[in-house]
Amino acid sequence: MKTLRWWTLLREAEDIRKSIGRQQQSSRRPRRSMEWSLPQSFTERRRSLLSEAVVYGIVLALSSLSAHELPLYRDSARPIAERTDDLLARMTLAEKIGQLTQGVARPGGSEMTASIELIRSGRVGSYILELGLDDPTARNKLQEVAIKESRLGIPLIFGFDTIHGLRTVFPIPLAISCAWDPGLFQELQVIAARESRAAGIDWVFGPLCDLARDPRWGRVAETFGEDPYLASLYVTAGVRGLQGEDLSQPDRVAACLKHFVGYSAAIGGRDYNHTEIPVLAMRNFFLPAFYAGVRAGAATIMTAFNANDGIPSSTNRYLLTQVLRTEWKFSGFVVSDWEAVAETIPWGFAADEGSAAQTALEAGTDMEMVSATYRDTLANQVSAGRISQMIVDQSVRRVLATKFKLGLFERPLAEASAFRSVMLQTDAVNLARTAASRSCVLLKNDGLLPLAKSLKRIAVLGPLADDRDEMLGSWSGHGRATDVVTLAEGIRTKVPETEVEVVSGCPLLEPPPTDGEVLVAETAMTTPISTIDDAVRAASAVDVCILALGEPRAWSGENSSRAHLGLTGRQQDLLEAVAKTGKPIIVVLFCGRPLQLRAVLDQADALLVAWHPGIQAGNAIADLLFGDLAPAGRLTMSFPLDVGQLPLYYNRYRTGKPGVTNYRDLTGDPLFPFGFGLTYTSFAFGPVELSSGKPASASALVTNTGTRDGEEVVQLYIRDTACSEGARPQQELRGFQRVTLRPGESRSVRFELTDEVLGFFSRDGDWRVEPGSFQIWIAPRAETGNPANYEH
Ligand code: NOJ
Repeated sequence: MKTLRWWTLLREAEDIRKSIGRQQQSSRRPRRSMEWSLPQSFTERRRSLLSEAVVYGIVLALSSLSAHELPLYRDSARPIAERTDDLLARMTLAEKIGQLTQGVARPGGSEMTASIELIRSGRVGSYILELGLDDPTARNKLQEVAIKESRLGIPLIFGFDTIHGLRTVFPIPLAISCAWDPGLFQELQVIAARESRAAGIDWVFGPLCDLARDPRWGRVAETFGEDPYLASLYVTAGVRGLQGEDLSQPDRVAACLKHFVGYSAAIGGRDYNHTEIPVLAMRNFFLPAFYAGVRAGAATIMTAFNANDGIPSSTNRYLLTQVLRTEWKFSGFVVSDWEAVAETIPWGFAADEGSAAQTALEAGTDMEMVSATYRDTLANQVSAGRISQMIVDQSVRRVLATKFKLGLFERPLAEASAFRSVMLQTDAVNLARTAASRSCVLLKNDGLLPLAKSLKRIAVLGPLADDRDEMLGSWSGHGRATDVVTLAEGIRTKVPETEVEVVSGCPLLEPPPTDGEVLVAETAMTTPISTIDDAVRAASAVDVCILALGEPRAWSGENSSRAHLGLTGRQQDLLEAVAKTGKPIIVVLFCGRPLQLRAVLDQADALLVAWHPGIQAGNAIADLLFGDLAPAGRLTMSFPLDVGQLPLYYNRYRTGKPGVTNYRDLTGDPLFPFGFGLTYTSFAFGPVELSSGKPASASALVTNTGTRDGEEVVQLYIRDTACSEGARPQQELRGFQRVTLRPGESRSVRFELTDEVLGFFSRDGDWRVEPGSFQIWIAPRAETGNPANYEH
C-alpha cells in the first residue's frame, strides 16, 4: 500500500513556473483605482476609530489581568487544546449549540434585531456576511455584541464566498484552471485573502473541489475542470494562498473545501439534483481534490446539496466520518451547505427537524448553515438522552479551535480604518491582468491572429463588447462594474491610432421570456442596445471585426443550469449577419462553461475563449489579440460537439468495444478535448521513449515548428491496461510541464513514472499500484498521440 502525495507535485509545478518566468512582466500596466484617493470622511473615521478603541480596550483590559484572574481560554500563550477545553467547560448546552449554528447577516429589519438577541444570548456562533456593504463596520458591530454582551464573549466567525477575488475580481476558477498554473492561483488567493480579511471576512467558502463533467451544470464555472489530478493541485494551491502558514495573520483566512461530495455529478446537469456515484468513482474522481485540500491543511469543509444514492451529503456518515475523520484525520470543522440539513426532509430522508439534526450531527456535520434544526431541537434531544452530549462537545471543540487559530479572541474586529487602502492595490490589479490573459484559450486561428497594430479601422461588435458588469463572472464578491476594463476599452488603449467602432448589435438575452418556459436570471446590461443592421453597417466599413459574444454571467454559477449551450439571445444571428460582409472575424467568447460552438466556428476565422475574465478583461485580451503576449491556456473541460453527448469528459471508460461509434447520428468525440489550446506558433511531439531506472521514466522530444517563440503545455497521460480492482479510464492526466521554445528549438521533456503517477485509489481508499502493463502518452492534449507500452 502506498500513500499518495500529489501535493508534492505542486511544488514541482511551481518551480517550473518560476523557472520559465512570465512574459507578462514587461507589459503590466498598473491601473489606479479611484477608490484609493477617496478620503474617509472625518465622522466616519472618528466613529470607526472609537469603536475599535472600545473593543481593544476590552481585549487589553482582559489581557492585563494577572494570570489567575484571566480565564484560561483567554490566554493566547496557552495551547489551543487547553483553551478549548477550558472554554467548553464553562459553556451551557444552549451556548454550545449556538456555536454550531450559522445565520445570515443582512442589513436592517426584524431579522437583524433577532440576530442581535441571538448573539447576545450566545445562540449563534457564525454569520454569512451578506450585509451588502464592503466596509466591515456593520460586521464589527455584530462582533462587538458577541464579545461585549454575550456571557463568555466568544467571537463570531464570519464567512463569505470570495470565490474569484473580493474587490479585485479575477477570472472565474474554470478560467484560471486553463492557465495550468496552480502557483498563479495561489498568488490570486493571497490577494483574495488579504482583501477578505480586511473586509471582515474570516472564513472563505472555497476553494471548490467539485469535478466538472457536465457543462449544463452552471457551477462548472467555479471548478477547476474535469480532471482530479489538476484540480488537486489547484485546491492545494488555493488553500495555501488563503491560509498561509498562520491563520491568525491579519491577511489570511480559513479556507472551506466544498461541496463534500459529488455535488457536480447532478443528474442531467440539473443543479441540486441527486447523484449516483459508486465507490470506486467516488474514490478516484470526486474525493481526490478534497483529500489534497485536507492534506494542505484546510481549516473547514462544507457539505453538498446532493444526495448520493439517496443519502443527503450532510448526513453521509461514511463520507463525513469514516473517510474524512478516520482515514484522512481531518481535524477542522464541517459546515453544512445553506439549509442542507433541513433539506434532508424534502429529500425524503429525515422525517422531521429533530431527526434531520440528529442524523446530520451524528454523521459529522458540525455546524448548520442558515436552517436552525440544531438550535431548535438538539437541546431537547440531548436532555432526552437521544443524542450524546459528547457528540455535541466534539463539534463545538472543532469550531472553537478554529476561532482560536484565527486569532479571533485576540483580534475580533476588522480594522475598518485600514480597509480601503487594502482593496484593489496595484499588485492585485496587475495580477488580475496576468491571470486573465493566462486563462484565455485560443481554439481557432486561420492566421488572422495576432493582429497588426497598424490596422486602420476595427469594429468591436456584440453585446459584450463594452459591458463592464458581465466581465465580473458568477461570484463577483465586492467587485464593481466601474473597476472593469471592457474589451472595447482595452483595444482602444492598445491601438490608440486605430479607429475603433463599437456596436453591441443585440442584447445578450432576447426576446424577454414571457411564456414562463425559460427561466431568465437578471443580467445587468450596461451597453445601450443597437440593432444587427447597425453592426453590419459598422462591419462593412472596417478591416477586421472582433465579436464579443457569449452567455450572461448570471447564467453560470449556482442554480444556473442550461439545457442548450449555444450563444444566448440573437447573437448567432448577429454573427452570421456580420460574416456575410466577408470581413475577417475574430470571436472572443465570454462564458462560464464550455458552449456548443460548431455554428460559431463556421463563421469565425479565429476564436478565443476568454471565460468571465474579471476586472482586467479588456487589457488582458488586447495583450493577446495584438501579440504582445501569446495565448498559453489549455482547456480543462472538454467542449462537446453537441449537448446530446453530455456528460462528456476525456477520462471516461474505454468500454469493451473501443472504437465502436457511440451514436448513430454523431461521433462520441468532443469538438475540443481536454488539454487543447493553440498559440501563435506550432509544436511537434516525437515518440514517447522509455528508460529503465528506479523509477523508470518517459520522455518525448518537443519541437517548436513555427516562426515565433512559444509556450507549450506538455501533458503526461497514463492508462492502466488491466486493473483487478476495476477498470481504469481510457486516459488519466498524471503530470504536465510548460516549456518555452524558440522557433526550431527542441527539448526532451521527461517524466518519472513513480508510484504517484501510476496508481489509483482502491475502494478502501488506499493508493495502489498494480504490476502489469501501462500505456504512456506525452502529448499536447488528451485523446491524441501514440502511447508507449510500459511494463511495471
Ligand atoms: C450555497 C452554495 O452552494 C455554497 O457554495 C455557498 O458557499 C453558500 N450558499 C453560502 O453562500
